[in-house]
Amino acid sequence: MTPNEYLEFLDDARRYFLQQEDLFGNVVYREEDDVKRKKAAAPDRGFVYPDEPWVSARSVHSLWEQIHECVKCPLGYSRTKFVFGTGNPKADVMFVGEAPGADEDRQGEPFVGRAGQLLNKIIESVGLKREDVYICNIIKCRPPNNRAPLPMEIEACTPYLLKQIELIKPSFIISLGRTAAQWLLQTNDNLGKLRGTVHDYRGIKLIVTYHPAALLRNENWKRPTWEDMKMFKKLYDAQKSGQS
Ligand code: URA
Ligand code: URA
Repeated sequence: MTPNEYLEFLDDARRYFLQQEDLFGNVVYREEDDVKRKKAAAPDRGFVYPDEPWVSARSVHSLWEQIHECVKCPLGYSRTKFVFGTGNPKADVMFVGEAPGADEDRQGEPFVGRAGQLLNKIIESVGLKREDVYICNIIKCRPPNNRAPLPMEIEACTPYLLKQIELIKPSFIISLGRTAAQWLLQTNDNLGKLRGTVHDYRGIKLIVTYHPAALLRNENWKRPTWEDMKMFKKLYDAQKSGQS
C-alpha cells in the first residue's frame, strides 16, 4: 500500500465507525471527539505537523511530555498507548528494538511481553539491570497486527529517537534485530553481516545483535547473541575500569 492508499483506507475505516456509531450508539468507538479535533487540526488528511517545540527539550521527561500525544503518522490514531522508552535517563547503555507489540501498546512501556522477559535476562547476563539501562524502539506506536513498520512511519518517528539519544548520551547502543540496525546504520546489509563488530554511531559504540523475539522463534540465534553480549561486556568493562 502506498502512504496515500493507507490514509484513504484509514479515512474509510473512520467513516465506517462513525456510521456504526450513528446506528448503534457510542459503544465501539468512544474517541470520536478526540479524533475529530485532531483531524481538524491536521491540514493534510491525518498528518499533523506541529511546530515541534520538543526539538529543544532539555530532558527525556520533558520530551515525553511534549510528544506522547503524537499523531504524525496514522499509528497515532490506532495505538492504545504511546511507548516512549523506559529506564535510566542517564544510562550508559541504550537498547533499541523495533516497535511496540500488543503488551507494550497496552502498558505504554517497551519490552514488557515475552520478548521483554528475555531481554531482561540478556541484560542481566552481562551484570546489568533493566533499571540501569535505557530501552526504547525505532517507532513509538504499535503497528496493527504487529506488521513491520512502514518507511513513512519510521521517517515520522525517528526524530524522537534521535532526540532521546542526544539527551541520554549513552556510551553504547545495542540494537535488537534488523530494523533497528539497518536504520541506525542506514544500510540494507543483513544482520549476519552487521553483527560481530563494533560500529561507530555518531561517536557512540553500536553493537548489533538479534531481536529477542527472533530468539524465541529460533534457538539458533541464541549463541551468536551471547557472543555479541560478551563482546559488549568486554568493551563496557574496559571503559568502566578506564574511568575509575
Ligand atoms: N519488540 C520490540 O521491538 N519492541 C518492544 O517494545 C517489544 C517487542
Ligand atoms: N531477522 C530479524 O529481522 N531479526 C532477528 O533478530 C533475526 C532475524
